[in-house]
Amino acid sequence: MEISFLLNGETRVARFDDPTLSVLDWLRAEGLTGTKEGCNEGDCGACTVMVSDAAGARAVNACLMMMPQIAGKALRTVEGIAAPDGTLHPVQKAMVECHGSQCGFCTPGFVVSMATAHLNHRTDHDDILAGNLCRCTGYAPIIRAAEAAKDAPAADWLAADRSFTLPEVPSGVRGQTAPAFLPRSADELAAWYPAHPEAVLIAGATDVGLWVTKQLRTLPEVALLGGCTDLAEITETETGFIIGAGVTIAALRAWAAGPHPALAGLLRRFASEQVRQAATIGGNIANGSPIGDGPPALIAMGATLTLRLGDTRRSLPLEEFFLDYRKQDRRPGEFVESVSLPKSAPGLVCYKLSKRFDQDISAVCGCFNLTVEGSKIASARIAFGGMAGVPKRALALEAALTGAPFTEEAVTAALPSLAEDFAPMSDMRASAAYRMQAAQAMALRYLRERSGEPVSVLEVQA
Ligand SMILES: Cc1cc2nc3c(=O)[nH]c(=O)nc-3n(C[C@H](O)[C@H](O)[C@H](O)COP(=O)(O)OP(=O)(O)OC[C@H]3O[C@@H](n4cnc5c(N)ncnc54)[C@H](O)[C@@H]3O)c2cc1C
Ligand code: FES
Ligand code: FES
Repeated sequence: MEISFLLNGETRVARFDDPTLSVLDWLRAEGLTGTKEGCNEGDCGACTVMVSDAAGARAVNACLMMMPQIAGKALRTVEGIAAPDGTLHPVQKAMVECHGSQCGFCTPGFVVSMATAHLNHRTDHDDILAGNLCRCTGYAPIIRAAEAAKDAPAADWLAADRSFTLPEVPSGVRGQTAPAFLPRSADELAAWYPAHPEAVLIAGATDVGLWVTKQLRTLPEVALLGGCTDLAEITETETGFIIGAGVTIAALRAWAAGPHPALAGLLRRFASEQVRQAATIGGNIANGSPIGDGPPALIAMGATLTLRLGDTRRSLPLEEFFLDYRKQDRRPGEFVESVSLPKSAPGLVCYKLSKRFDQDISAVCGCFNLTVEGSKIASARIAFGGMAGVPKRALALEAALTGAPFTEEAVTAALPSLAEDFAPMSDMRASAAYRMQAAQAMALRYLRERSGEPVSVLEVQA
């Protein structure tokens, strides 16, 4: 298969057989070895590259990005961050001056993340660099470097990547080892998929990429959905919002900061900047992981999922989509088109419990959406991840709380009902007993926070 793209400012045509070939493997085979392979699973950021198109520039992990995903886009590696005349980019200069590098293995990834953030005028350095691991320098000099470079003028050679044009990407390109389809709209996908029900749909590839890099699977036929720009839209209706399946977690987080701040807060804890820029909400739902962070929050909000098979659409409450461990209510040839959210959910609070604050998978994710009228709980929607084989509503706890006074005594009295909802498992993230205790503690934390007691995980209190 053949794609064209801009590589470090120059048009490039790449030919390869396997559509699941990672950008990282292709770059390194081409001799662009500044982009490092650390973990090959999205955790370390050593492979960070910058991908730009008309929508802007974003830092992504090259190890989880498949070559067809960069068709028609601009790709910058660490070799292309300095100015064309060799002058260091402000973040490179600052890394030198602030002693931000020792062994240097992580440095290219940091530099690309920092240069992308600099281009986008972002100064939330801790957040942006949470997906870049450094084993030897320590983060203080690196953050100092990011801070030192923040007021330097934007690098116009990087900004130019947004405004180039390449030939349109053909949708029927076929790899030799596996056929690949690149639909340009949901309609094209809907027309093609029922005749190819065994094909693997690939949105951001942050789950599917691991099937290839870690499980060494050869995928049968694939459809890469990045060209379906209509799936990446958020539309306001009279009653709420329709979120396209292809909306990235980064875009959803930015959007949710307005109408759904609790969702935005949770999504800050979703993976890392690089993963959030690639991962989609449709992939998060369709993947059906019991520890995915999107579904518990969306279920607590009362989200409705829309699935599409050919020209036929059906909608169902999101919780009904998850039938059993890794078993979803999705028919052959049917895909996730969108998820609908209410206009607001003022009672929503989401808690993610994981071993690290950043870049970690939930042990328990608890999402609470209670309406309190007067002193009583008028309604309750509560959903958990990490407590069962699927993301699931806590129906017994909801029933025990509904109509009860919104007091510590009443909430404490309702907590044992959580054992009717869940029999969690023990695994490397948490024991069953810990999960249950943590889930119950989240309910009490919700009460205390809504009652005005400040609770911050960013501050350690004695
Ligand atoms: C380092 C790392 C950290 C992570 N951290 C988190 C985290 O904190 N929280 C969390 O929830 N997840 C996390 N994940 C998992 C992953 O990022 C998410 O599940 C993500 O939302 C998947 O989206 P995607 O677009 O990359 O899906 P893909 O990998 O492209 O696809 C995932 C699955 O969904 C299917 N699919 C995709 N789109 C559709 C569609 N429109 N219709 C039907 N099926 C579809 C695919 O066929 C596949 O089965 C992490 C992953 C990595 C690598
Ligand atoms: S190699 Fe570690 S994130 Fe890609
Ligand atoms: S400088 Fe060695 S890992 Fe960061």
